[in-house]
Amino acid sequence: MENSTITVPCNHQTLFRPSLHQNLPLSFMLHRLPRYLFALQRLAGQQWRRFQLNAHYRSAQISRHISIAPGVRFSVTDGATLTLQDRIAIDRNATLIVKYGHLHVGARTYIGIGSVIGAQESVTIGDDGLIAEYVTIRDQDHSYGGPNVTARNGFITSPVIIGDNVWIGAKATITKGVTIGDNSVIGANSVVTRDVPPNSIYAGAPARLIGYTES
Ligand SMILES: CC(C)(COP(=O)(O)OP(=O)(O)OC[C@H]1O[C@@H](n2cnc3c(N)ncnc32)[C@H](O)[C@@H]1OP(=O)(O)O)[C@@H](O)C(=O)NCCC(=O)NCCS
Repeated sequence: MENSTITVPCNHQTLFRPSLHQNLPLSFMLHRLPRYLFALQRLAGQQWRRFQLNAHYRSAQISRHISIAPGVRFSVTDGATLTLQDRIAIDRNATLIVKYGHLHVGARTYIGIGSVIGAQESVTIGDDGLIAEYVTIRDQDHSYGGPNVTARNGFITSPVIIGDNVWIGAKATITKGVTIGDNSVIGANSVVTRDVPPNSIYAGAPARLIGYTES
């Protein structure tokens, strides 16, 4: 008899999907136990990190329902204030530094892996924002006037305002003094040095208008 290979198509419809009305067999529950425990551990970790943040920074206003992944770093010093509104998610290794100034992150905003947000005067991020991985948002530059550029000459600051429902692509940088209007998109790797009107798509370094989110 001839050797032959039979490929069985994987039809997701045929996979076992228990409905809530079915009695789940014990073995199935046990099979899922590690997953349940992992979810529980994650939830406990999130709540613990939120508790630590609250306990450590009295000036911070932190909503009860926020998700803080492992490795997220906060620094709120020199009379600075931090507001994190409801249902925010801050992903792994993101860093939020607030010195003297104020950082406000609006409800349901996501801050991606490794992103850095630094507020020395004021950074305001609206509701429903989507900040991808490794984005930098800073409201300050080093002051580089004078003969020695690398001397610690202090900072120049100007507020950054990011509206509601803004998507910032991976590795983009938002520099001091920039306002990004509601419902706008910033392309990956962009450097935003000028204001972005609402409903616009900006990309490039420096970022330029490439389209509109509403036609
Ligand atoms: C900005 C973006 C949304 C635009 O997508 P789009 O509307 O499909 O736009 P197009 O691909 O048609 O590009 C339009 C023009 O802008 C340019 N462009 C698009 N994205 C760019 C970017 N990030 N930087 C520089 N130029 C860009 C294109 O080269 C094209 O130029 P051309 O007309 O001279 O050929 C997309 O390119 C992008 O950067 N997405 C971010 C992805 C990301 O970071 N995801 C993380 C997950 S949250």
